[in-house]
Amino acid sequence: MAIGDWRVAYKGLVYDVTTSSFWRTGLHRDLHWAGQDLTDEIADAPHTELVFHKFPIVGRLKI
Ligand code: HEM
Repeated sequence: MAIGDWRVAYKGLVYDVTTSSFWRTGLHRDLHWAGQDLTDEIADAPHTELVFHKFPIVGRLKI
């Protein structure tokens, strides 16, 4: 993951959120970093996982 090329892992899938203005700096709402598995952190969000629907899946986590 390069600067300006932001990915977020959620429930085993890796999403490319680069096109989102809400992830422009790689730090979302001063709390959540791109490049991490944020599955457990969705509970802190005022929105559901539906926010991921428009972003491409670019990978899968190996467990
Ligand atoms: C304190 C926690 C959080 C706050 C206050 C927050 C707030 C917001 C707001 C206001 C939006 C734009 C409005 C919307 O689409 O409903 C948004 C979009 C989004 N959030 Fe969060 N969020 C938080 C945590 C998270 C976490 C933990 C994730 C990932 C698991 C996440 C992923 C996203 C994504 C992918 C979008 C869509 C961006 C877009 O449509 O361009 N957020 N968030």
